[in-house]
Amino acid sequence: MTPKLGSCYYPEHWPEEKWKKDAEDMVASGLSWVRIGEFAWSRLEPEEGVQNFQWLDRAISVLGNAGLNIVMSTPTATPPRWVVDKWPDMLIVDIEGRPRQFGSRRHYCFSHEGYLKEALRIAEIVAKRYGANPYIKAWQLDNEYGCHDTTLSYSPSALEAFRGWIARKYKTIDQLNESWKNVFWSMEYNSFEQVQLPNLTVTDPNPIHELDFRRFSSDQVVNFNHSQVLVMRKFTKMPLIHNYMGRITDFNHYEVGEDLDVASWDSYPLGFLEDRSRQNDEFKHRFMRFGDPDFQAFHHDLYRTVGNGRWWVMEQQPGPVNWAPYNPEPAPGAVRLWTWEAIAHGAEVVSYFRWRQAPFAQEQMHAGLQRPDGEVAPGLIEASQVFSELNDFESIDQVQSKIALIFDYESCWAWEIQPQGKDFSYFELVYDYYKALRALGLSVDILPPNQNSFRGYKVVMMPGLMHIGSDLKSAIDAFDGVLISGPRTGSKTVDMFIPPELPPLVPGVKGTVASVESLRPNAFISIKDSGYFKDWMETLVDCEDVVGVCEDGRPAIIGHENNLYIAGWADQDTLKKLFSSVCNSQDISTTDLIDCVRTRETLKHRFWFNYSDQESKVGLINIPPSGVFWEPL
Ligand code: GAL
Repeated sequence: MTPKLGSCYYPEHWPEEKWKKDAEDMVASGLSWVRIGEFAWSRLEPEEGVQNFQWLDRAISVLGNAGLNIVMSTPTATPPRWVVDKWPDMLIVDIEGRPRQFGSRRHYCFSHEGYLKEALRIAEIVAKRYGANPYIKAWQLDNEYGCHDTTLSYSPSALEAFRGWIARKYKTIDQLNESWKNVFWSMEYNSFEQVQLPNLTVTDPNPIHELDFRRFSSDQVVNFNHSQVLVMRKFTKMPLIHNYMGRITDFNHYEVGEDLDVASWDSYPLGFLEDRSRQNDEFKHRFMRFGDPDFQAFHHDLYRTVGNGRWWVMEQQPGPVNWAPYNPEPAPGAVRLWTWEAIAHGAEVVSYFRWRQAPFAQEQMHAGLQRPDGEVAPGLIEASQVFSELNDFESIDQVQSKIALIFDYESCWAWEIQPQGKDFSYFELVYDYYKALRALGLSVDILPPNQNSFRGYKVVMMPGLMHIGSDLKSAIDAFDGVLISGPRTGSKTVDMFIPPELPPLVPGVKGTVASVESLRPNAFISIKDSGYFKDWMETLVDCEDVVGVCEDGRPAIIGHENNLYIAGWADQDTLKKLFSSVCNSQDISTTDLIDCVRTRETLKHRFWFNYSDQESKVGLINIPPSGVFWEPL
């Protein structure tokens, strides 16, 4: 199937007379999908017991009659004021114990049973009414779980649900005390009713208390989504989708994804660069109009796996956003570039947020495909260009990459709880490995840690993976490619203790982490004939094979050609050098790319992307400024 384009539309924001023309303009511009309804609850149910769906019926007919496929949504991310008045304790509570107030969105606590009932009730009403509507071809459930820091809630409902969760997990309080080792600091409990949430303690709570709370909180998101799925499934056969966010790791997206048919995410390259990137100022300046050349791709690859191969961009940045510290205009061509990159990574649909810029409320400074006055904005011209270019393609099929990189949500939580050094971030560590691979011109698959086979892969990487479960162990044992792990890989039990046999507990790696240290921002440990370690360094002893050493004499890389463990957080040049020699040993060819050029291989094509306003050359290929180049394979 050829990928399609779409946009996000809010009929409730515009006079009804505009709907038809808007729909026709969308179609004329090459858009074939439109997402609606995700924030419309107060207009569908202005007060308890009063429903008003006629306007939405008409909007759906107008959009559908114009030829658009509709993504209808459940409006549960924006419970209206009367719902909050009915359930005043449904509000999410922050770590300081303060309820987060009504007046924006995502103000609900995932553990509040009254709210869950209310959410399922409205989902059922919407699903019943539109589940079989011929214009509705997909559904979005809720909107951006976890966005605005809304996974963790320290509310009374969360406390009650957490007590139930630990009681189910540990059965007896003695077992919990033993598993958490609450003998430390006399933290032992006599009953589950005494256990609190891990906030407002005088100093750090027990890390396993926090990790269990993180697991519980993730489960609450999974359950909330799952409950909506059960309701929707009664009334519709259409694909169920959620729109995830960039660099939000507070819940296990793989588990939410198991209940859905398609994953999607909201891609805001310039917003993310300013708001969520740890790159330095020079980098941000250089890429201010393009975004980080690897950030979108990382999420495309992650969500392709979360969606079991099926994924969309539900919201694509079309122009300046309103929510980052600085909100520059994309470079001319950047919207087209982002769209093509998503398509090359397998997006079935790229849908722009939003059709027309709203002249009111919180997002009045956020661009759309149209200006607030209805005139065409630059993003729309680029979207239409992609639409006509897509005519040259029948389909853009994905192939399994030769390289797999493991990304694990539990490790994110574990190292947030116990970073041991202020700058340690699991996301950034994995992302550094990803960046180095992309800088070598490689396509990468991102996988969850519960693998039982690495069939088809030649190189597998799992930096920072806290714990290696039994499935993964057997996958590693059966793997005949190259495994690269460390630092911190296999360094904890599943309960976050240092294992009795000291780490790294990576099958086949012979050595012992005798101690670890975290480093100040400008402290580096040089590696002989290579670069350096930063942020994190392990002292490995009793190593059978040492492949590289540090200037201070400590092993830098241990293991053998098929199983390597890296002792610290290596700089990009070191990673690239190591990865290219490993790839060459496996007959995977690499190309050293400059930082603004990236590539992606699909079944029949190789795509090249240029994140700069200068023409870039790779061998004989010229990639136009801010552009895309594709060649058949
Ligand atoms: C997304 C959200 C949209 C809109 C957009 C603005 O996070 O889903 O509703 O707020 O950001 O960039």
